[in-house]
Amino acid sequence: MCGIVGYAGRRQASPLLMEGLKRLEYRGYDSAGVAVLCDGKIARRRASGKLANLEALIQKEPLKGLVALGHTRWATHGKPSEENAHPHADCGGELVVIHNGIIENYLELKEALSAGRHVFQSETDTEIVAHLIEEKLKGLAGAGRSPTPDLNEPLLFEAVRQALGQVRGAYALAVLWAKAPGVIVSAKTASPLIIGLGEGENFLASDVPAFLAHTRKAVFLEDGEMAVLKAGGCTYFNLSGKRIEKKPVQIQWDRTMAEKSGYRHFMLKEIHEQPAACEDTMRGRFFPLKDGVLKRECGLETGFLKEIRQIRLLGCGTAYHAGLVAKYWLEALARLPVHCETASEFRYRETTVGPGELVIAVSQSGETADTLAAVKLAKEKGAKALAVCNTVGSAIARAADFNLFTHCGPEFGVASTKAFIGQLTALAVFCLHCGAARGALGEPEARRLVDQLLCLPGDIRSALKLEPQIKELARRFYKKEHFLFIGRHVNYAIALEGALKLKEISYIHAEGYAAGELKHGPIALIDDSMPVVAIGTRSRVHEKMLSSLEEVKARGAELICLGTEGDARPRGADSLIVLPQTPELLSPIVNIVPLQLLAYHIADLRGCDVDQPRNLAKSVTVE
Ligand code: AGP
Repeated sequence: MCGIVGYAGRRQASPLLMEGLKRLEYRGYDSAGVAVLCDGKIARRRASGKLANLEALIQKEPLKGLVALGHTRWATHGKPSEENAHPHADCGGELVVIHNGIIENYLELKEALSAGRHVFQSETDTEIVAHLIEEKLKGLAGAGRSPTPDLNEPLLFEAVRQALGQVRGAYALAVLWAKAPGVIVSAKTASPLIIGLGEGENFLASDVPAFLAHTRKAVFLEDGEMAVLKAGGCTYFNLSGKRIEKKPVQIQWDRTMAEKSGYRHFMLKEIHEQPAACEDTMRGRFFPLKDGVLKRECGLETGFLKEIRQIRLLGCGTAYHAGLVAKYWLEALARLPVHCETASEFRYRETTVGPGELVIAVSQSGETADTLAAVKLAKEKGAKALAVCNTVGSAIARAADFNLFTHCGPEFGVASTKAFIGQLTALAVFCLHCGAARGALGEPEARRLVDQLLCLPGDIRSALKLEPQIKELARRFYKKEHFLFIGRHVNYAIALEGALKLKEISYIHAEGYAAGELKHGPIALIDDSMPVVAIGTRSRVHEKMLSSLEEVKARGAELICLGTEGDARPRGADSLIVLPQTPELLSPIVNIVPLQLLAYHIADLRGCDVDQPRNLAKSVTVE
């Protein structure tokens, strides 16, 4: 999630932009840049690393001007570097763009623009937008609408609007053109963009904290809307160019609340960002099925995927649980032998990993020491490594042969939530393409799976609507000292993950177990002091799960059960959490949501430091 700030007003823009970007630092970033328009020219300053590097550059080479754009970049396409930092410019350096989101069809647009002799300076998807607008301006000028001062604003607006007509994907973007002084044209689809309305000055930003010190009067753009921002005011349009009216709102949050978008904790904000994390991670990654995204983004050719003789999924904690789910998917969809183990165990075993194997390392941070060591070991023994990371340029991403990044944006809560959803989504995309490449998944089945994947964000939203019921459950159970989570088949890993969420933020002892294992020991634990959370959603092992519920009920446990809409209430369920009819194989991506919310609200009621639990770090970079 990049940070965007724009300003048009009567004060020097550069200091205001830097202040705004600092207010967005919490979003995480790896490089930053600003562009200021002054005396008909646009000056840019960009730097990788922290904002202090950009500040030092601006101190050395100051920027003067009253209209400007600023950006902090969280890399999705192209490594963190000055060249890849925004703002990006057109060939002539007369037009700059800043952008938050993912342009799905940037490669095909880039090829067409390159054929039109556009020269690109970066690896980013954003840069193609600057050149596309440049192309549209030429076309409009050629159509007799020569740029003259009074015409330049509508010319720029029309060029941006036409360019966006060719763009597919998510964007919050802003554009500055040297020949349209004082004007910022912006547009929003699927990524947040907010206008801050001041007195004789106006702001735009990806989040409210960037301008909250200057104004509390804001306009939240909706998908498919554009804004033309000038010192004296802002006008709004839809993408077909029609003028629209937008009603400003008064922001009530203080700055800390604003950074969490009004949520009490980053973890809760990130739980609610999961529909977007799922959408953004699968965006533009389905077709073509063969030699598609895996070739384009990872360099994994169909031929290579056909030759793999075994896959080994490695990770730690939540990332390991994501691998466990993918193990069932790969067996079912790609008909491949699959191992899944914790990286900390794998790296010290006399492992048989070797040539012809693909190791898939799952890691949010991309810096986990055990996972990094496991990747290096696997490669030393001749295997190839694919990293599923959330952090471009991280050690594991660099160590791997191939990368399939999740697009969740930075995750601040130590407890992994949206990153888990992103990992599962990326792994599902991999399984789809691997199964298709190996002929194990025919075209009709693959298309059906794509349709099911496209429904996931909506199912996650439905699960999030259960929060009031889950908050009530938390009130009843937050004083318990032990929990047991049980699941079967593809939801066994969700039992483990639900238990991990609870124990790591509430400090309640919680165990996840394969329900079929209860009678082999753990059932001795069950009595009326031990609540049991059972994942009883619709599945091929549903009858078996119902028997497990009977077992625990007979021993006096209080039973909290996840069920599927339309199914009969499981006998013995004291509390039933009803989830949408998500297809069984994909149900883990939805089933984890109520368990995350249960853990969060129990921990909050226990007064725990939910975002920074004791003894834990966000990234375990030591053994
Ligand atoms: C899970 O909530 C924890 N934050 C922890 O288990 C985490 O998943 C694990 O440390 C792996 O981290 P990574 O994904 O950054 O490699």
